Formats: sequence, structure tokens, C-alpha cells
Amino acid sequence: MSAIRMDGKALSAKVRGQILEQTETLKAQGVVPGLAVILVGDDPASQIYVRNKERACLECGFYSEKHVLPATASESELLDLIYRLNTNPKISGILCQLPLPAQIREDAVIAAIDPKKDVDAFHPTNVGKIMIGDFDFLPCTPAGVMELLDEYDIDPKGKQCVVIGRSNIVGKPMAMLLLHKHGTVTICHSRTANLQEICAGADILVAAVGKANFVTPDMVKPGAVVIDVGMNRNEDGKVCGDVGPAVMEKASYMTPVPGGVGPMTITMLMKNTIKAARLQNGM
Ligand code: GUN
Repeated sequence: MSAIRMDGKALSAKVRGQILEQTETLKAQGVVPGLAVILVGDDPASQIYVRNKERACLECGFYSEKHVLPATASESELLDLIYRLNTNPKISGILCQLPLPAQIREDAVIAAIDPKKDVDAFHPTNVGKIMIGDFDFLPCTPAGVMELLDEYDIDPKGKQCVVIGRSNIVGKPMAMLLLHKHGTVTICHSRTANLQEICAGADILVAAVGKANFVTPDMVKPGAVVIDVGMNRNEDGKVCGDVGPAVMEKASYMTPVPGGVGPMTITMLMKNTIKAARLQNGM
């Protein structure tokens, strides 16, 4: 039997509708959530992500600004822009699209963003707060995964959860959120021995590898929930995830790519932005 498709597009539309209603309430009280998105260079994938973020702002009734810097921009130019946005009262949240050109240090940029406007939740202060379990902002992709699990009544409590990938953006915070929900969490990565065996023991398997068709049916326990965070292009240039299509026949639930985790990530960014607007206005 084929897995139930976890529809991130539909859940996103629902949540964005709820955010729009909350925006209208805030606006009636004189508060407009505002997001500044910064793009450095002309990476085509980043351009698409930034466009989708602007579109989501419109859907949610937010004010938004896009700042595009050339690929040759210096670190200090970018930091100056961030400092201006930090003190701009129209801006509730700041997102600097990653990756950045080689001459700019990613950690310096992340640290420059005011933690109260850090809607990516990448600042060390916010990362620490997530670790403790006392946070304002949740990292967008892992938060999107958690909302999808919740929507389909999948409770990580007591389950074997395996996350493939240990990035600061996805793998590590994903493991932490599953742990907060009482999952038993294993993080696998490129040096993991017995990867197939560990994955095949998972009740909930999250793939955040960045390699097309990395997860094959032999790595999946029958009836497992499989979450595909990948966003790759195959040989034909078609967008595909980290999980091979044959896994659909083995899993009980699975997220499609596109239309699974991707739209949820941007929706969680909107959730963080409205939360930032509230926090900055003492609401
Ligand atoms: N690049 C890929 N994913 C992300 C993300 O979630 N936030 C930012 N800022 N850049 C990214």
C-alpha cells in the first residue's frame, strides 16, 4: 500500500489564513508585521526562495522589503545594512538568505542580527534558547516538520526518531524539537557507520542530506513516517527530495517534494515574523 501523502501545501494555506486574520487584529491595534529579506548575489535557487518569501508576506498581510546586494558586496556593507534594519521600527524580522559569497563570514552576519528580529532562529542566543526549551522563535524547517507531524496526529513520544544530516539549519535543531516531544533521537551523518541499519530502525525518519534519492526502501522500516527535507534537482533538472520514490510503497506517511516541507518552512517564517512584531510591541 502506498503511503499517505503529507500535504504541506494545504496545511500552509490553512496556517497562512490564520496568520492573515491575526495580522488584521494587530493592524487594528496599530502594529504591522514587517519582514526584511536580504539576498546577496544571484544564485538562482536563492532567488526563488526569496520570491516565495515575499509572496508569503503578501498572503499574510505583512509589510516586506527586499534588499539585493551584488555578489561582490563586502561583509561590512552587509553588516551596515543589518544594523540599519535592526533599528528600523517598520522591520519586525530580518532574514539574510544563505549561502553567502565566500568573502562574507556567515557567522558574523548571523551574530549581527538582533536576536529579537532573528526570524530564522540562527543567532547563538536563539540556538541556546532552543536547546534549553525556552524559546521565542523556532527554526523554520524543523518547526514546519513538527506542524506537519501534529496535523497528521503523529506523536514522536517514545518513538525511535532518526535524523539524517547534522546542519545547524536543519539536522541539529530538528533533533532537538523531536527530543522536546519525547522522541528517542539519533542523528546520522556522512561518517555514520551502519547507516542503513540505523535508519531501518526508525519509526520517524527525517532526511536532510541534500542528495537526490539518498534514502532507498532498504533503509526504511515498514510503516515508518518518512519526512523529506531535501530540495535537489535530478539529471533532468526536475526538483526532487532526498527520498527515492519507491519508499512511498514502504512508508505509512510521507512528505512529497515539492509540496511537503518546503511550503511549511516559509509559513513558519511568517509565524516567527508575526511573533517578533508582537514581542517588539510588548504584546
Ligand atoms: N538557505 C537555505 N535555507 C535557508 C533558511 O532557512 N534561511 C536562510 N536565511 N537561508 C537559507
